[in-house]
Amino acid sequence: MIKVRFSAALPQASHCVIVPVAKDALAGAILPGDAALLKAAASAARFTGESGSAFEHHISHADGAQRVLLLGMGSGSAQDCEKAGATISARLLTSGEKAAAIDLTALSSKPDALCVARLASAAVLRSWRHDAYRTKLPDAQKPTLAELVIVGAPEGIDAAWAHQSAVTQGVAFTRELVAEPANILYPETFVERCARLAELGVEIEVLGEAEMRAAGMGALLGVAQGSIREPKLLVMRWDGTNGAQEKPVVFVGKGVTFDTGGISLKPAAGMEDMKWDMGGAGAVAGAMMALAKRAAKAHVVGVCGLVENMPDGGAQRPGDVVTSMSGQTIEVINTDAEGRLVLCDAITWVQKRFKPEILVDLATLTGAIIISLGHEYGGLFSNDDDLAAKLTAAGAAAGDPLWRFPIGPAYDKMIDSPIADMKNVGPREGGSITAAQFIQRFVDDGVKWAHLDIAGMVWAAKPGAVWDKGATGYGVRLLDRFVADHFEG
Ligand code: BES
Ligand code: MN
Ligand code: ZN
Repeated sequence: MIKVRFSAALPQASHCVIVPVAKDALAGAILPGDAALLKAAASAARFTGESGSAFEHHISHADGAQRVLLLGMGSGSAQDCEKAGATISARLLTSGEKAAAIDLTALSSKPDALCVARLASAAVLRSWRHDAYRTKLPDAQKPTLAELVIVGAPEGIDAAWAHQSAVTQGVAFTRELVAEPANILYPETFVERCARLAELGVEIEVLGEAEMRAAGMGALLGVAQGSIREPKLLVMRWDGTNGAQEKPVVFVGKGVTFDTGGISLKPAAGMEDMKWDMGGAGAVAGAMMALAKRAAKAHVVGVCGLVENMPDGGAQRPGDVVTSMSGQTIEVINTDAEGRLVLCDAITWVQKRFKPEILVDLATLTGAIIISLGHEYGGLFSNDDDLAAKLTAAGAAAGDPLWRFPIGPAYDKMIDSPIADMKNVGPREGGSITAAQFIQRFVDDGVKWAHLDIAGMVWAAKPGAVWDKGATGYGVRLLDRFVADHFEG
C-alpha cells in the first residue's frame, strides 16, 4: 500500500503532479507548463472535473518529462473526494511513477479535513493488493507508486487522518484475512493473525473445542465435526472507556474459513469462492483493529465463530438433530446452511458472558441475498427500527451501504420442524429472511439486534469504489462509523 504524507510545500524530488480540478472549473484552473495547451487537450478529451475522472499529460521538465494528472474533484463532497483519491491510485499505482503530489491550494474552495482524509484513505485502499503468492509477476505489472504527498491540507487534518488511517489499516487487515486461501487461513491461523491486536490493547480470549463442548455449543461443533481443523471461538475486547461503559457493544462474525457445503456438497463450479465465507469474521477483526488503533472511546466486543465446513466420515448428516448452547434443538436439513449454526452458538455465548444491549452480527449467510441485492448493498435485518436506522446511516456515510429487509412471525413459522424446535432451512422463497429468523430465535429478550447478510459484498469480481477486484474489506468502515457516531462520548 502507498504511504501518505502531508506537507506545506511540493516535494523537491521527482514526482507526478496532481492538479485537483472541481467540476466545470477547468477553464479557471491554474495549471503547470503550457497551461493553454493542457486545457485545450483536457477539454478535447472531454475532461470536465467530474469526480473519479482524470486526464494525463506530460510537460517538459529539467529531468526530461513530468507527468501531470488533472484530477476531477466533482463537488468536493466526502464521496467525491473519496472517488478522486481512489482514482489517483488506480491511475498511478503501476504507472512507473514512484511518488505523486497533490496541491490542494490550487482549489478555490478547499475541501475540509474529513474530505481530505477520505481522499487519502481511498488512495491507500485502492493501492492495496494481495501479491503474496505471485512469484513471477512481470516487472511492468508491479506497483511503483510508493508515496502520495498532500500539499495544503486544511487545519485538523492530523486528527482526521489519525482516525481515517486507523480505519484504513483495519480494512486492509480484513482484506488480507479474506484473500488468504483456506489451506493457509483456517480457524487456528485466523486466531494467530489476530494476536497482533493484543499489542494494540485488545484483550483476546480463545475457546477451543473442549471449552465449546463444555459450554454446550452443539450447533457450532456439529458444523466443525467434518473437518480435521479444530474450531475456535475468538473473542476480542476493546475498552476505551476505562470501565465507564459497563456493557459492550457486541459484534459477531461468521467465520467459516471454507464452506464445501458439507455432506450437502456444493457444486464444483465457483466453490473456490467459499474461502471468503469468513468475511463477517474478517470484518469484525478489522473493525476491532481500527477501533484499537485509533483508541476509540468505546467498549466493544468482537466475537468470531471460526470453523471449516467439510464432508469427511465424521461429518454431520442431513436429518441430524443438534442441541445448541441455548438448549434449543435444531434439525439439520441441509449441512450447507452452516453459517446460522455457527452464529447461533456464538450469539448465545456472548450474551451470557457480556449481557450486551446491542448486538450486530455480520455473515456471508445466503446466496439469496445476492439474488436480491446484487453487489450494491448488504442486507440488513433488525428487531429495532432505531438500530436499523443508525446502521443504515453509518453505512451510507462510510461507503458500506445497507438495505433493510422485513422480518416477522409469518417468516419465522417457515423454519418450524416436526421433530425439533426448528430446522436450519426454510423453503426456497425468502431464503435470506428465514436465515435471519433462525438467528433471531437465539437473541435474548431486550437485546437490540441487527443481522447483516454481506454475502454479496466481501468479494468483488471487478474494481469498485476503493478496491481493486478481490477482497473489499466491507463492514469495517461501517462498524467504525457506527461506533464513532453513537458510542463515543
Ligand atoms: N456461505 C454460503 C452463502 C453464500 C453463497 C455466500 C454464495 C456467498 C456466495 C452459505 O453457507 C450457504 O451455503 N447458504 C445456502 C443456504 C441454503 C442451503 C438454505 C445458500 O445460500 O444456498
Ligand atoms: Mn453453506
Ligand atoms: Zn457458508
